Amino acid sequence: MKTLNVGLIGMGTVGTGVAKILLEKDSPLLEKLDCVPVLKGIADSNPDVKTRLDLPPHILFTTDAKTLISNPDIQVVVELIGGLHPAKEIITIALEKGKDVVTANKMLLALHGSELFGKAREHGKSISFEASVGGGIPIIAALRDGFIANKIEAIFGIVNGTTNYILTKMTKENVKYQDALAEAQRLGYAEKDPTMDVEGIDSSHKLAILARIGFGLDFDFKNIYREGISDVDLSDIGYAHELGYTLKLLAIAKKTENHIELRVHPALLPHDHPLSSVNGVFNAICISGSAVGETMLYGRGAGQMPTASAVVADLVDVALGRAGITFKAMKAFSGHCEHVPIADLQQFKTRYYVRFSVVDKPGVLAKISGILGKCEISIASVIQHKAKENGSVPLVMMTHLAEEGNLQKALTEIKQLDIIKDHTKFLRVEE
Ligand code: HSE
Repeated sequence: MKTLNVGLIGMGTVGTGVAKILLEKDSPLLEKLDCVPVLKGIADSNPDVKTRLDLPPHILFTTDAKTLISNPDIQVVVELIGGLHPAKEIITIALEKGKDVVTANKMLLALHGSELFGKAREHGKSISFEASVGGGIPIIAALRDGFIANKIEAIFGIVNGTTNYILTKMTKENVKYQDALAEAQRLGYAEKDPTMDVEGIDSSHKLAILARIGFGLDFDFKNIYREGISDVDLSDIGYAHELGYTLKLLAIAKKTENHIELRVHPALLPHDHPLSSVNGVFNAICISGSAVGETMLYGRGAGQMPTASAVVADLVDVALGRAGITFKAMKAFSGHCEHVPIADLQQFKTRYYVRFSVVDKPGVLAKISGILGKCEISIASVIQHKAKENGSVPLVMMTHLAEEGNLQKALTEIKQLDIIKDHTKFLRVEE
């Protein structure tokens, strides 16, 4: 049996999962393949890891990643330390030393993907990153291989389990944002500092990776529109629910003739949309392709073994020589793919849910709808609820399709009216 020697850098949750799979005695890899990845060495800055893992004696262990990368017996380096530095340097050195690379590092790829892919090509090596998006869901393989015959028109979905857990808790149990976040932290789904997840940063990294592979285009990551869930109000989830919609944090990539839209924000989906029933920490990604039509992939977007499953799939691709062939052939990895502008927020065209807090007296609706009409926003439905203690009344509207620039213009004008008692909230609707 042929083998591929693996050097694993970073023995956190996922690294430990990868080691478990590679060290399994009755590994499914041995049953299915005649060329398998074999764990040769491990690097982790914490020396206690060696004892914790109870490693077989033939596995090398070092606290210095560079020692492992420099070992001529190692053929592929798995980077699982995360963050930008020293992960970027480790990957760069590994490529320079002629090793293929497997990584789960979405932030690094979103921010420095072009540069690293260029480096890999320069050295005739590959970078594989199935575990960077969607955990155990083979979404990268699907976009790269399975849907290759398609012009990809849209990629959108739930790519962050932490925020989906929080929103599910708010929706199903009527729990306020802060309490749902605290519960997610208690269960280990959210970090102590949850910013990356709740502000949509993690989702924007994943969106950048999906869009690059799906569309084969390059763009400025910093121009991706991003809005998280920390401002989501329980009352809006409730009103939207009454109107037939479920609130989710979506990562959305759409391609038209002239531009691409890349955005991460909370959005309302009709209850019967398949993404509306993706609950808890699960992820799901919908792909719209010119030949295949609508598809959806669903599964665990994080966690030790699902993510390890994706890393090992990449290792098998390297072992079988597939990673190298694909990497050489795909323009998305070339550093020469077309660089396109990301559409401006003002150009987004969706339907909107808008909640005004108004005084309850005759003529209020007429004033608001007058301004909306002037700005070419057409109202689809209106609901009004009972007055709150401070005398303000929530007035909720659903609009027809409209440009966001027009909505912003209308809301700025409406804000000046003396009938407006509080902030106006709006949410985008995806059908
Ligand atoms: N923090 C991520 C999530 C998991 O909640 O989905 C790793 O990508």
